[in-house]
Amino acid sequence: MKSEVIVVGAGGHAKVCIELLQAQGDTVAYCVGNTDSPDTCLGIAVLKSDDHLLALRKEGYQRVFIAIGSNPVRNKLAKKVIEAGFQLVNAISPAAVVSPSASLGRGIAIMAGAVINAEASIADLCIINTGATVDHDCVIGQAVHIAPQCALAGNVRVGNLSFIGVGSKITPEIHIGESVMVGAGSVVISNIGPAITVVGVPAKVLNKF
Ligand SMILES: CC(C)(COP(=O)(O)OP(=O)(O)OC[C@H]1O[C@@H](n2cnc3c(N)ncnc32)[C@H](O)[C@@H]1OP(=O)(O)O)[C@@H](O)C(=O)NCCC(=O)NCCS
Repeated sequence: MKSEVIVVGAGGHAKVCIELLQAQGDTVAYCVGNTDSPDTCLGIAVLKSDDHLLALRKEGYQRVFIAIGSNPVRNKLAKKVIEAGFQLVNAISPAAVVSPSASLGRGIAIMAGAVINAEASIADLCIINTGATVDHDCVIGQAVHIAPQCALAGNVRVGNLSFIGVGSKITPEIHIGESVMVGAGSVVISNIGPAITVVGVPAKVLNKF
């Protein structure tokens, strides 16, 4: 079995994730993109279809990181690679601070400057982006993206597939449902149900129609 990592994705987010993997001592063998992808990503050859995954598995690659920013797409691709027999690895910056009592799933990216505090729980496929803080006892669901410079106070819960936009703040004990979009710079001070977009200070439902 080969120990090198296959990165699924070949865009800007993939570049950051490749550098996280390299910083923790991993070697990235290939990126897997699509027909619109560049030929290389940070100097790593890009294979331009998901169809390459099965061949890579047969060649003995077993470790994959899904470096796709879209939460639903990342979640869907993860199912595909797990079914193909791959294992998801984490990509954690040496410049992040992760409490020893925090629990982490698989396929997670934690960028530079992020802080995960005591007994926080981060499920599979989350992105905790640059400089974001997730305080004690927070429970972050599967394939959530906490964008750069967000601050989640203690005991916050975020449902699967939700996206917390850049620079948002969430006050203690708030519950955010599944597939919620919190707009950039929002301050969330009350619970939010599933599948809605909220924006502003304080955050309110965005009604576009
Ligand atoms: C919330 C968001 C998803 C809405 O996007 P959208 O559906 O395309 O909405 P629109 O740009 O059409 O804006 C609709 C209205 O909401 C307002 N609005 C949009 N985002 C807002 C925000 N973050 N805060 C306050 N108001 C916002 C717009 O001004 C507009 O108001 P108007 O109708 O009075 O003109 C998007 O603006 C956003 O904040 N995305 C987060 C991006 C991010 O953090 N990326 C990080 C990547 S790492």
